[in-house]
Amino acid sequence: MTRSAVRASAPGKVILFGEHAVVYGEPAIAAPVTQVRATARVEPASTDSGLRLVAADLGESYTLAAAPPGAPLALAARLTLDHLGVSIPDAVLIVQSTIPIASGLGSGAAVSTAVVRALAGFVGGLLKPAEVSDLVYETEKIHHGTPSGIDNTVIAHERAVYFVRGKSPELLSVGAPIRLVVADTGLPSPTKRLVGHVRAGWQSETARYEALFERIGDIVREARRLIEAGDSPALGPLMDENHALLDNLGVSSSTLNRLTDVARRAGAFGAKLSGAGRGGNLVALVDAENVAEVADALKRAGTVRTIETVVQ
Ligand code: PMV
Repeated sequence: MTRSAVRASAPGKVILFGEHAVVYGEPAIAAPVTQVRATARVEPASTDSGLRLVAADLGESYTLAAAPPGAPLALAARLTLDHLGVSIPDAVLIVQSTIPIASGLGSGAAVSTAVVRALAGFVGGLLKPAEVSDLVYETEKIHHGTPSGIDNTVIAHERAVYFVRGKSPELLSVGAPIRLVVADTGLPSPTKRLVGHVRAGWQSETARYEALFERIGDIVREARRLIEAGDSPALGPLMDENHALLDNLGVSSSTLNRLTDVARRAGAFGAKLSGAGRGGNLVALVDAENVAEVADALKRAGTVRTIETVVQ
């Protein structure tokens, strides 16, 4: 069968509220970050060449048949073909991404989502966002160990979501645009290790950790109400409080505490770490008037990259 080239992409993501507590059954809210994307392109190749996977940014290239064990690209490709019940096509799949790696912006889930979408499109399969999300979840287990599933959900749906582990995600209707500065500390944020660190804390101080998770859950429920009501400045104090609770869980750092303070002093309505913590990104809530000042202050204070994005 002659097939034509297919291209698909997927955005980054940011967790607005509820990271870590979401692993323990509390809700979390996340939104796509469309300014950064992963892209996959599948092109037909000569007969009997099999499927070649090329991670252009990493300089990696291998066939599906000879993929290194645990390679997420290969897993995403295999899961997609199995799910659709089709055999391996003769093709080259090239992946590229502008999403910073290991910084809490969902680069792994976005790359897998782009692969699943492009490959499904190439072999003529139609996948609903929920099916894409389920396939990507399987690849997330490699990165995270015990992922809650929030990254694959928000990225596959490309909408702000209210997420509870094990339940169907609820797509949020955002009452008024929420303007954010997402700023990268440049420090790694090893999700698996930090999730393990919280687990160890919960095992040794169960009551204290559960009280923190519950309070985070209350914040997320209140944030949802404000987001739907379009009252975005009122989200600021909730972000500040969520950050303080994450600090109490032991996943912040002096850098994240300092940079969230810098954002607040420059006029942000609130700021918090986003994702697994220790390093990675922070998110600051701004408006059209103070966005430039907050972004500049964060750059001067040493962040390696800022992204201005609007959740709507
Ligand atoms: O991948 P990150 O850095 O955005 O972190 C994921 C969020 C956690 O709640 C810490 C883990 C999870 O699986 O939900």
